[in-house]
Amino acid sequence: MNITVIGRGRVGGGLAQLWEEAGHQVDTLGREGGDASDAEVVVVAVPGHTIADALQRVSGLHGQVTIDATNLYTARDETFPSLAHQVKSLIGGPTARSFSTVFAAAYHQISSQRVAPSNLYAAEPAAKEVTEQLIRDAGFDPVYVGDLAPGARLLEDSSGLTRALAAQIGPFFYRYAVPGEL
Ligand SMILES: NC(=O)c1ccc[n+]([C@@H]2O[C@H](COP(=O)([O-])OP(=O)(O)OC[C@H]3O[C@@H](n4cnc5c(N)ncnc54)[C@H](OP(=O)(O)O)[C@@H]3O)[C@@H](O)[C@H]2O)c1
Repeated sequence: MNITVIGRGRVGGGLAQLWEEAGHQVDTLGREGGDASDAEVVVVAVPGHTIADALQRVSGLHGQVTIDATNLYTARDETFPSLAHQVKSLIGGPTARSFSTVFAAAYHQISSQRVAPSNLYAAEPAAKEVTEQLIRDAGFDPVYVGDLAPGARLLEDSSGLTRALAAQIGPFFYRYAVPGEL
């Protein structure tokens, strides 16, 4: 797939590396922006409070399948039910939210785990297949929490728990399993 990742920091740069290793063509854009017209999939990995600023510097956004990976540590804009909805209002394509509950600092250790770590995601139906594929291609096991509403906001609001756990044990993987699977 042709993927443009907006944000080339820990998340954006890290995912780009994982997906390139899986055979995808990945462009990353920093805060200066750039062109995404060749992208089949757009991934947003900038600080949550900079979504509007970051996306208005990117040309060629035309309704591509989009994955929102952002989190927010400032007051939220309640105009939108979730950050993913804000992203969708600017790009317009089928939208998902994923990679927001997993740690970039642990990306390099995914492939050495006994089983693939889980990665929770919410997605509109038309974004589901691509999102699952890219989660798997990054080395994770996708776990679907439902459609963008209410799934994206549920994931967004879980960041406090993620941070609290990380304060206790550092960056971690997690695994959801049905009985008999472990
Ligand atoms: N780090 C994690 O483990 C983790 C996990 C889950 C979710 N997240 C979320 O993922 C997003 C990216 O996190 P990160 O850790 O990759 O951050 P980071 O390392 O600080 O990288 C941020 C990226 O966003 C770009 N950017 C674009 N517009 C920007 C603006 N107006 N102001 C500031 N930066 C701008 C930066 O551009 P330049 O390259 O030009 O500086 C940089 O490439 C955040 O929303 C974060 O909460 C992070």
